[in-house]
Amino acid sequence: MTGKKPALPRIAAHMAATADGKISTRRFTPSQFTSPADKARLHEIRAAHDAILAGRGTVAADTMSMRLSNEKLRAARIRRGLPAEPLRVVVSNAGRLDPAWKIFQHRGSPLVVFSTTRMPAQTRSAIAPLCDLYLFEAPAVPLRAAMALLRPAYGVRSLVCEGGGELLRSLAEGGMLDEIHLTVAPVVFGGSGAPTLTGLPGGFLPNPMEFQIARLRTIGDECVLHLVRGKKKRTRV
Ligand SMILES: NC(=O)c1ccc[n+]([C@@H]2O[C@H](COP(=O)([O-])OP(=O)(O)OC[C@H]3O[C@@H](n4cnc5c(N)ncnc54)[C@H](OP(=O)(O)O)[C@@H]3O)[C@@H](O)[C@H]2O)c1
Repeated sequence: MTGKKPALPRIAAHMAATADGKISTRRFTPSQFTSPADKARLHEIRAAHDAILAGRGTVAADTMSMRLSNEKLRAARIRRGLPAEPLRVVVSNAGRLDPAWKIFQHRGSPLVVFSTTRMPAQTRSAIAPLCDLYLFEAPAVPLRAAMALLRPAYGVRSLVCEGGGELLRSLAEGGMLDEIHLTVAPVVFGGSGAPTLTGLPGGFLPNPMEFQIARLRTIGDECVLHLVRGKKKRTRV
């Protein structure tokens, strides 16, 4: 035993927010406040990673399949010696997942589900043939251990989390967020209880996470940011 921590994949998040930092519409419906170009970029970012990660809330609300449907992007991945689509990963503590969801119907890439022994037995037997199911004997998924499994078991070196806020918050709290791809749309939603990048308004993170701007573009009427973890020397006034 060396005591060395298992290597995590490099973890990015890809999210869209309003100018007032909200990530969901009033009814928590799929995020339809960004442009078609932003939706296309979602697929480009998917294609650039070995795996896609989402929380149960997002998979259910956005009826996600997490597939990569763009033929050009699929072909480019194959030319690079990769599978046509990235691995798909879903996390749920309570494990109340519906085998009828799109995510379980799409068989174009393997699906990994990290959950706990809280998952109802009926759900376990229904989804086990449709995914690689990992059930941790704990009330909540130990997220770092789950992420650390992906590299040795599936060769995942890079992963993009597509939300939602609650999952992003866990990644941030665990110090696991290396990059953020953020689209800021020129719209203001308000809503004192509306989720932000780190979920529903609540406590501060144990420590602020600092990022540097790796790239900043204005595309159409949206601001597209690529943030990379790291401190910049600031003059404090
Ligand atoms: N604007 C955007 O870019 C964007 C992106 C994604 C989602 N959204 C929106 O965000 C809303 C969903 O938000 P949300 O906060 O509910 O999403 P979420 O984080 O995807 O889902 C929350 C659920 O995911 C599971 N989960 C979260 N963190 C976990 C962890 N560390 N370990 C194990 N399971 C974990 C839990 O499932 P269980 O309850 O099953 O235990 C939790 O209740 C939707 O309206 C969606 O449209 C917006």
